[in-house]
Amino acid sequence: MSVKPLIRATAVGKDYNEGAVRALSNISVDLHENQITALVGPSGCGKTTLLRIIAGLDFPTRGAIAIDGKTVQGPGPDRGLIFQAYTSFPWLTAVRNVEYGLKILGIDKEERRQRALDFLKLVRLDHVADHYPRSLSGGMKQRVALARTLAQRPRIVLMDEPFGALDAQVRWEMQELLVELVEAEPRTVVIVTHDIGEALYLADRILFFSRQPGRIKADLTLDFKGGRRLKEKEELFSLPGYREMEKHLFSMMREEIAAVDNAA
Ligand SMILES: Nc1ncnc2c1ncn2[C@@H]1O[C@H](COP(=O)(O)OP(=O)(O)OP(=O)(O)O)[C@@H](O)[C@H]1O
Ligand SMILES: [Mg+2]
Repeated sequence: MSVKPLIRATAVGKDYNEGAVRALSNISVDLHENQITALVGPSGCGKTTLLRIIAGLDFPTRGAIAIDGKTVQGPGPDRGLIFQAYTSFPWLTAVRNVEYGLKILGIDKEERRQRALDFLKLVRLDHVADHYPRSLSGGMKQRVALARTLAQRPRIVLMDEPFGALDAQVRWEMQELLVELVEAEPRTVVIVTHDIGEALYLADRILFFSRQPGRIKADLTLDFKGGRRLKEKEELFSLPGYREMEKHLFSMMREEIAAVDNAA
């Protein structure tokens, strides 16, 4: 049985500086609805480039990305973005930050406020709805960003190292929160991460990239989780097959780093 892909990349290539930098080469992959896919690989392998092309913020030099069969021509409300840097507006309170995106979508004032409060509650920030970002911690600011993006109900959530700036404990809480949110309201998530543990916990599938030019070196379905999303991260550690997959990813990462060192 063939399932129609939500996102299809066909022979996507991306060059910068008139071909001097080959950021991506021949990326062909189908991503399916309501899956979490992690893009993992060494620095400079083109993860952000691919995410930006899916977002419609950048365009491939060769090939194309289609969403639901339509070639991406630019950004759209079907795709929500969360980047590493906090992207809240400092002059708006938390609830107004969440409302802002809904205003752009043309949602009326009452529904906007209600939905913003509902999503702040989901990320457990309803008690600071009227606070400005400067009085929130890094993790709280990133939860505002998460609420803002999810409140717009995009079909696809694109995340570029969203928890990279957070300390280990907050990062871990955010990972569990993301799983909880996606379980409550299924969505298609593409998340870029350097963190192998994060990818193993969050993803249904990992695309591991090699660099220069960026290619898909391995396409791994995390079958050892039995198609389940784990509520608590530590559940991962006792699953048969987990350690082997972790080891495989670490050794691929080491190979890629060594390849770069040898080329230098
Ligand atoms: N606007 C640009 N102009 C020129 N080169 C670029 C541009 N953006 C990215 N590159 C180059 O393309 C390659 C891929 O970059 P990209 O940012 O996609 O990598 P990445 O996998 O996200 O890396 P990191 O893990 O460090 O964030 C790199 O060699 C980078 O220097
Ligand atoms: Mg990047």
